[in-house]
Amino acid sequence: MLDKIQILFTEEQIRSRVDELAHQVSSDYKNHELVLVAVLRGSIFFTTDLARRIALPLAMDFLSISSYGEGSEGVVRITKDLEQNIAGKDVLLVEDIVDTGFTLKYLLRTLLSRNPNSLEACSLLDRKARRIIDIDLKYVGFEIPDRFVVGYGLDYKQQFRNLPYIGVIQPDKLG
Ligand code: PRP
Repeated sequence: MLDKIQILFTEEQIRSRVDELAHQVSSDYKNHELVLVAVLRGSIFFTTDLARRIALPLAMDFLSISSYGEGSEGVVRITKDLEQNIAGKDVLLVEDIVDTGFTLKYLLRTLLSRNPNSLEACSLLDRKARRIIDIDLKYVGFEIPDRFVVGYGLDYKQQFRNLPYIGVIQPDKLG
């Protein structure tokens, strides 16, 4: 099955881009109380790699969401909330991919109501062709074409998350 995956970004390309993002975050958040918030499950590898390369003290927290209806245009709901109070903190929300933007919009609005000192978003991938609403995404790893991608946290039916690279699949050809 893995032979049907076409590599889009190699492990090395991902590592190098994550290094660049970590460098940028380290410089932007100097002397701030940074809290990295990972949105489970897709962003888990990206968040932990990014965190290890940020040269600042930071806290990490996690949230889970579910969405009902057509894609995430339906209702987004938090199923596992943060453990930490983010009031007064500098929060960086970490996603694996942004499509329509509905999920991120909802999360930003929800977290903003908890009065952080600042709130920004970072996504490993940006599939802009699917965007429906305008969102403010400060850090982006890679812009990608409108294809189905797996690996480095991203799944197809919960499989392939553990691939060290990001690849394109055609679900109808997986058999
Ligand atoms: C992905 C991603 C975002 C959402 C983005 O999650 O992590 O949460 O889709 O889509 P949107 O911009 O159209 O709202 P997914 O449903 O794949 O869950 P997972 O991270 O658990 O794999």
